[in-house]
Amino acid sequence: MARKKVFSGIQPTGNIHIGNYLGALRNWVALQEEYDCIYCVVDLHAITVPQDPAAFPGERHDAAKVLLAMGVDPGRSLLYYQSRVPQHAELAWILSTIASTGQMNRMTQFKEKADKAGSNLGLYSYPVLMAADILLFRADAVPVGEDQKQHLELTRDLAERFNARFGEEFPLPEPIIPKTGARIMSLQDPTAKMSKSDPDPASRILILDDPATIRRRVKRAVTDSETEVRFDWEKKAGVSNLMEMYSLFTGASMEQIEAEFGTGGYGRFKEAVAEEIIAGLAPFRRAYEALDDAEVDRIMEAGAEAARRRAEVYQEAVRRRVGLSA
Ligand code: TYM
Repeated sequence: MARKKVFSGIQPTGNIHIGNYLGALRNWVALQEEYDCIYCVVDLHAITVPQDPAAFPGERHDAAKVLLAMGVDPGRSLLYYQSRVPQHAELAWILSTIASTGQMNRMTQFKEKADKAGSNLGLYSYPVLMAADILLFRADAVPVGEDQKQHLELTRDLAERFNARFGEEFPLPEPIIPKTGARIMSLQDPTAKMSKSDPDPASRILILDDPATIRRRVKRAVTDSETEVRFDWEKKAGVSNLMEMYSLFTGASMEQIEAEFGTGGYGRFKEAVAEEIIAGLAPFRRAYEALDDAEVDRIMEAGAEAARRRAEVYQEAVRRRVGLSA
């Protein structure tokens, strides 16, 4: 039997941080063992907020390089830039004709982003392009962080609506959201999620940060006025956030962390958190430095070529369903 398909994407703007890693990219890598995986650097999504055309190709290349360094394996999985596979945009258009504006108005990320960056039609229809990404290859499962849950619900909805109107074409994709790490919070404001676009670099740890930076960021992480290391998101969000990170990098349970660090004060715990993050990220930095840039370009072009070939078959099926076939 054919393996089940996984699809996921990441925006190339700004640097990839440990929230991306713990919420989604860890799963991207792990799922390659079992699934037919398709991973995409979503450059068309990224241009819904202003981009610098001179810097953008470098950022996109860098995102691809980080993914490869983390273990996305082009020998087993498809990896490419979204804009190099035009079938994404065509399917997005077709899906936009069945998406209701009422439903689009309820998308919370649009509201947050529009408040910050100003709105445009691309930003508004962003979730439809995301649905097209997922449905294009008929993905069964989608590894993402918690913030993408609403977009996944829209995707399932659009798939159902398409199937009802034009005939059974799309499977309903399931989100794969980790129990721990699905929403890593800012180190400076534990009520806001860690984000690439946060203007304060102290709010996040990047995959490629050097050890001194990581130690500084963790040391400065906002906690609370108590001293007890205890897992309690309501009362101790800053500490709980660090505990999630520690747990994910070491495999220790919250109980084990409390037993080891509970009364030792935040200083000792933070030092341990920083050292585990440094050790966990070190192999990625090494792999990143060893990667050849021309090789990365070659991998991305080969990925796009293979993705286009696969997408054409699916594209034709959709065209036929809606009456657009030659
Ligand atoms: P993006 O680029 O913002 O983030 C990439 C992945 O990282 C997850 N993530 C987090 N997880 C835990 N804690 C955090 N603080 C955190 N911040 C980000 C995101 O949930 C995501 O899984 N719209 C998507 C990109 C996209 C996509 C797709 C994803 C486009 N098409 C199709 C899946 C399937 C986005 O902006 O992710």
